[in-house]
Amino acid sequence: MKDENFLKANNARSLWHPMTAPADSLKNAPTIVTGAQGVRITDLDGHEVVDGVGGLWNVNLGYSCQPVKEAITAQLDRLPYYSIFRGTSNDCVIELAEELRTFFEPDGLTRAFFTSGGSDSVETALRLARQFHKIKGEAGRVKYLSLKKGYHGTHFGGASVNGNANFRTAYEPLLPGCHHIPAPYTYRNPFNETDPARLAQLCLAALEDEIAFQGAGTIAAFIMEPVLGAGGVIPPHESFMPGVEAVCRKHGILLIADEVITAFGRTGAWTGSRLWGVKPDFACTAKAITNGYFPFGAVMIAEGVAQVFESDASGKAAIGHGYTYSGHPVGAAAALACLAETKRLNVVENAAARGTQLYSGVKALMAKHDVIGDVRGGHGLMTAIELVADRDSKAAPDKTIPARVQEVAYRSGAMVRVSGPNIILSPPLVLTAADVDVILAALDAGFAAL
Ligand SMILES: Cc1ncc(COP(=O)(O)O)c(C=O)c1O
Repeated sequence: MKDENFLKANNARSLWHPMTAPADSLKNAPTIVTGAQGVRITDLDGHEVVDGVGGLWNVNLGYSCQPVKEAITAQLDRLPYYSIFRGTSNDCVIELAEELRTFFEPDGLTRAFFTSGGSDSVETALRLARQFHKIKGEAGRVKYLSLKKGYHGTHFGGASVNGNANFRTAYEPLLPGCHHIPAPYTYRNPFNETDPARLAQLCLAALEDEIAFQGAGTIAAFIMEPVLGAGGVIPPHESFMPGVEAVCRKHGILLIADEVITAFGRTGAWTGSRLWGVKPDFACTAKAITNGYFPFGAVMIAEGVAQVFESDASGKAAIGHGYTYSGHPVGAAAALACLAETKRLNVVENAAARGTQLYSGVKALMAKHDVIGDVRGGHGLMTAIELVADRDSKAAPDKTIPARVQEVAYRSGAMVRVSGPNIILSPPLVLTAADVDVILAALDAGFAAL
């Protein structure tokens, strides 16, 4: 490895970071992470902290998951790559598809289409949804509906259904025919409604209204995260996703659950759809499928949708979509080991218990620090703290405030993530009660330092 001075001096000289301005990277040195063990990361200066971010919502089993590491190295020795395009397959990916089928059977999802990550999975589901309708003779169903505040990755399809201008404006024009309805976000919504159940009904009414306006026969799919993540952790009322499912069924619209964050236990249920008792037509997964150790994803497909594709004799069901790394054997080996470990450790239980501890701990911080306007979470290890200039006006805080909290929290023992006015917490699902206390104490120090 190059020495410390070289790394610090050159970080932004020859690389552009995702999700920030190049000029900002040149001005502000990043934290250069050089090692990790368990749920802790270590930086170039040797400072060790609890990773309250869990990589990027993906390192669910922590950084020392030996079975996944061993599966990757063994597979690299045995078969480092082969494609699964027409005519070839590999042993690992066949076994993985069977395992995923069993895992997702309670969600009614019985086929897998493999991808290289979350954005790919979203793109795949959006495309297959249009194709489904074409096979069925409804070629006019091409539009997509989604939630404002939703995050669906950065491909053109995903950005088009995305509900946050930060990921859209610079790249417009996006895909035509994508329409958004208000998110069930009690803290801020156009209805000025703070009751979650009533807000869910208002958002469902807005969905019905948009469908009537667009014409149901023009809409291919509705896509949503079971708990909105990157948009600031927005858990809908329990009636919302089942309500969306019912509206979609009534109008022949497919339901895509974007489970890139929520699949594999993060919400305290094995999937976000299962948390709400919903059976989607597609579920997009990635991230924790390999514990973040290998870029990989899978779109899970409902039995009914699969039947339409598999029984087609017209040729319309030929899939003209896929990635060089679809079904990558090393990713598949990682996913197999990861799934086995996820089940063996029964991570849902710890995610639920530690999630409750973290959520109530952050709520206690709200009682102490006026800069906290809203705290969201309560479903596993997805928690957000929304900062405000003052609670009455709910005005956004000075832009430097979240970063200042983050900096002091980091010095006090925990990495937390800043996204706009939100501090987002999504630690590994295997963290202990003591680790949660470290995150809470570090945040407390961060707020106290303002
Ligand atoms: C819900 C959701 N969908 C899609 C994506 C995109 O995944 P990726 O960054 O792996 O392309 C993300 C990433 O955070 C996500 O949270």
